[in-house]
Amino acid sequence: MKISELLILKCTDLTNQGMGVAHLDRFPFFVSNLLPGEEAEVEIVSLRSKFGIGKVKKRFNDSPDRVQPICPYFDICGGCQTMHMKDQDAFKFNQVNKILKRVTRPLVASPQQLGYRNKMVFKAEKNKIGFYKLRSNEIVDIDYCYLQSELKNNILTYIREHYKDLTEVTIRGDEEIMVSLSSDSPINPKPLFNHFEEIRSVYVNSEHQMGERLITKEINHIKFNLSLDSFFQVNTLQTEFLYKKIVELAEFNKDDTVLDLYCGVGSIALSIARDVKKVIGVEINEQAMNDANINKELNRIDNVEFVCQDATVFLADFNEPINTIIVDPPRKGLAPQGITDIINSKADKVIYVSCDLMTLNRDLNLLSQHYNIDTITPFDMFPQTYHVEALVLMTRQ
Ligand SMILES: C[S@@+](CC[C@H](N)C(=O)[O-])C[C@H]1O[C@@H](n2cnc3c(N)ncnc32)[C@H](O)[C@@H]1O
Repeated sequence: MKISELLILKCTDLTNQGMGVAHLDRFPFFVSNLLPGEEAEVEIVSLRSKFGIGKVKKRFNDSPDRVQPICPYFDICGGCQTMHMKDQDAFKFNQVNKILKRVTRPLVASPQQLGYRNKMVFKAEKNKIGFYKLRSNEIVDIDYCYLQSELKNNILTYIREHYKDLTEVTIRGDEEIMVSLSSDSPINPKPLFNHFEEIRSVYVNSEHQMGERLITKEINHIKFNLSLDSFFQVNTLQTEFLYKKIVELAEFNKDDTVLDLYCGVGSIALSIARDVKKVIGVEINEQAMNDANINKELNRIDNVEFVCQDATVFLADFNEPINTIIVDPPRKGLAPQGITDIINSKADKVIYVSCDLMTLNRDLNLLSQHYNIDTITPFDMFPQTYHVEALVLMTRQ
């Protein structure tokens, strides 16, 4: 076998990332946009010792589970991976079960399948604006992205028509919009700022230029001020459901003290503050922490304290009695020392919000030696992509 060789392959399974799995003899190939039961002529685009990557040249039959992707760039753009699946929720639910091998509650579908993203970062080069092509540094020039709203696509079109030599474009927000343009040449952001009343903030090369420094979002009646780089869940409406579910599962008491580790701009901490005595939010990113403190003032919430520190370092020194620990770490999950300290904290409940099933599974295997895993609820935060969020409730054994 060699690169560019054409093979006839039949797909038998799907990877966690939504790629078709097909074997030649017993050697596996992973192929985008191919579903179980489908047979295709596949070009070998990459060969490793244990697997190959293939690209469909010609598909001979269509699975009943296939739909026509709405986006014309689906086949070349690396942004979406599951747009061709009729039932993406079933795919994600199955992934959660396959990886976690534990009883799972039904998946909470996203209220919006398209236009849901409140932040998009587009790469740009030589008048092309878009996303990197799958497994390459080549930019796919796109004039419309279905993951963001019509308004933000209009903003993208305006930018494309009026600004040249860009290297990156970020469009953030729902009602209030923040735009960040990066370029090696001088840029006048005024025409863009004046053209759309929804644009409240413009940055150029990470420097604030026009309007406000922060934009405001509201989740479950709590206002959040967001700066350019601080983390915020990308699917606003689904985040409302996620946070409501956290409150429902946690069954907080008015005299509870809660830790919100990896708290970002304080979105979970501030959302649960009214249900408990005290929340301590811990976050490593200074800008997010500044935003969190502004958000606390903005909502006149005074029973939340924010600490800007590595969550594992914080836990190692923390020895106050605690009722519930909420963790929402980045993809790499919890540090082993952090898990030991969570166990030693003797918190009654641990709530784990995860965007990476592999690291979640690794961490649950350790936590479950001391905590019962009561419920696992998958949330589709990222329709059209293979990503899935999981919300886990654990109680002390
Ligand atoms: C998945 S986000 C969750 C944010 C927040 N809970 C939310 O729902 O918006 C993870 C957050 O962890 C922060 N973070 C990453 N490493 C950290 C660490 N070692 N200690 C504390 N926070 C960290 C990131 O800056 C980010 O804000």
